[in-house]
Amino acid sequence: MTPEKLSQLAIEAMGRAYAPYSGYKVGAALLCADGTVYQGCNIENAAFSPSNCAERTAFFRALYDGHRDFTAIAVCGGKDGVITGSFPPCGVCRQVMREFCRDDFKLYLVNSADGAYDAATLAELLPRSFSAQDQMSG
Ligand code: THU
Repeated sequence: MTPEKLSQLAIEAMGRAYAPYSGYKVGAALLCADGTVYQGCNIENAAFSPSNCAERTAFFRALYDGHRDFTAIAVCGGKDGVITGSFPPCGVCRQVMREFCRDDFKLYLVNSADGAYDAATLAELLPRSFSAQDQMSG
């Protein structure tokens, strides 16, 4: 699975978004260590706070199926599904990644409709983070 293909799968997933309130459609494609890919989209709610981000939809689908080892995620989003730049994961999603991913977990932030992306690692996007190790030693 190449970053380019994963980015295309994130763009495809954006088409499943349920975002009638914000209008921002978001898609994600999560690559597991065994090569399986889980796609996710944002799912909003009239009460707002129950809404779920695309990244967490992808993670929770994979986790439920028993996956615990992850390699990379591609993420894209934009108003009405039009990508005008990268759509970086929110802090809550980064913290969910922290629970299950190592520092070198790769993020491909898609910044154009043709699938171009900026690459980053989880360590870059969530430095000095609180993790399961801190919980156990604390
Ligand atoms: N959203 C995501 O799906 N992922 C993020 O990491 C940031 C925000 C969604 C939530 C909401 O449905 C919409 O984008 C606007 O905030």
